[in-house]
Amino acid sequence: MPRKLAAGNWKMNGQRANLVELQKLEDKHGDAGVDILICPPATLISGCEDTPFDIGGQDCHVNQSGAHTGDVSADMLADAGASYVLTGHSERRTDHGETDAIVAAKSQAAYDAGLIAVICIGETLAEREGGTTLSVIDTQLAGSIPAAATAENTVIAYEPVWAIGTGKVPTLDQIGEVHAHIRKQLADRFDDADEMRILYGGSVKGSNAADIFGVPHVDGALVGGASLKADDFSPIISALEQA
Ligand code: PGA
Repeated sequence: MPRKLAAGNWKMNGQRANLVELQKLEDKHGDAGVDILICPPATLISGCEDTPFDIGGQDCHVNQSGAHTGDVSADMLADAGASYVLTGHSERRTDHGETDAIVAAKSQAAYDAGLIAVICIGETLAEREGGTTLSVIDTQLAGSIPAAATAENTVIAYEPVWAIGTGKVPTLDQIGEVHAHIRKQLADRFDDADEMRILYGGSVKGSNAADIFGVPHVDGALVGGASLKADDFSPIISALEQA
């Protein structure tokens, strides 16, 4: 069984004063039986050095350095204290036109910097309603995951675009269908696919976490809104510990 992972994605939220939430989380889960990852904005990464939790970036450039104003490289994230980075989050794909090929290049940049890539995939509402979810997932998996992926350097996050920040969650059967499908697709390419962690993301809360974590092949969650406050993230972590 892969080691379970509760990941929080703060997105473009949080200033130094908000780091108190990590302290509160540490008081409750400093000794958690699952891995805990926080992805704050890049400006806060170096301020997280005292936390016991893993820290991740939310994006990285494909290059190590160079003339790319405003961008942050995987090497810089590692230097600031990160051990993970999200790649291909749907907001990056939508807001910045990131293709599967770019996501694969960013994931490879993460590996080169010694970071674990959390590679995000998921269908839109139109794709779900059009019945093409699994083929969309197949295309994203094939195009976004570098050949060098292993269970050590890669986590997959399945996040239906229509479930992110909307309060809408797929049925447990729908989550189970996609996660089992992802596991099978990974097994076709990677020897250690059974150990690769597959997270569910999209409107995970304390009230639905236990049910979601009961679905086979769900190895944890990528949590947006409910990761900003320790009081909201804590029940999700507890549910994962008990799953
Ligand atoms: P949400 O975001 O939990 O606020 O739906 C999830 C994500 O975008 O990772």
